Amino acid sequence: MNKARITLDVALTIDSATSLDRKGCAVCVIDVLRATSTIAKALDSGAEAVYPVSGIDAARAAASELAPALLCGERLGVRPEGFDLGNSPLEYTKERVAGKRIVLATTNGTKALGRYCDADRLCAGSLLNATAVAEYLLSTGKDIILVSAGQDGAFGAEDAICAGLIAERIAREGAEYTDSAWAAITAYKACRHDMEGSVRKCDHAVYLEHEGFGDDIGYCSKTDIMKVVPVAAHHNGRIAIKKA
Ligand code: MLT
Repeated sequence: MNKARITLDVALTIDSATSLDRKGCAVCVIDVLRATSTIAKALDSGAEAVYPVSGIDAARAAASELAPALLCGERLGVRPEGFDLGNSPLEYTKERVAGKRIVLATTNGTKALGRYCDADRLCAGSLLNATAVAEYLLSTGKDIILVSAGQDGAFGAEDAICAGLIAERIAREGAEYTDSAWAAITAYKACRHDMEGSVRKCDHAVYLEHEGFGDDIGYCSKTDIMKVVPVAAHHNGRIAIKKA
């Protein structure tokens, strides 16, 4: 039975305290640049499942255990030696990933998903699928925590802006929201008329641009271009993320 009123909180960093107990909550991890955008794109392109892991060695081990699986991810934004794909969503085309299992190791996004794997429900959100994710979170009837993955434990503005967009959709439906959710909504409203320009100002975007991934920033800034909702389930001791 759904609760009368949902409470919504935003963790502005991966370690931010929240008054909600995530074991009873629906949690959405957000890493706009680029892990959760890549997960959305992979599933939208027909990948069977994405298995998030936090380290390069763990990724190699998971890929051989789950074989055949594509070994994917980044360190310092770049595809590690011997990996099939990096962490650019634009690489995850139908031709490359349809029907495939993807093992994905990234610095912050997949780590944040692992950190919240004990949530009652866990999904991955991005600008690409923000409204679909908000609708899914509301449909659970649970209190909601949006987690801004950020960079190495620090605040990442692009993730907070996306959290604000998802939070705004949820608050509209009458959810109660915390100060940090309100701050994220305010940030989103200040940026919504120039999302790409706003995202390009963020520290990690500046880094990615410098590393030659400018096209990813443009792509990851697109809002609501897909309806896919990546939802995590436990699978033989691992997290498997599939379409809801
Ligand atoms: C991460 O998880 O830290 C990112 O997605 C890094 C990136 O590939 O831009």
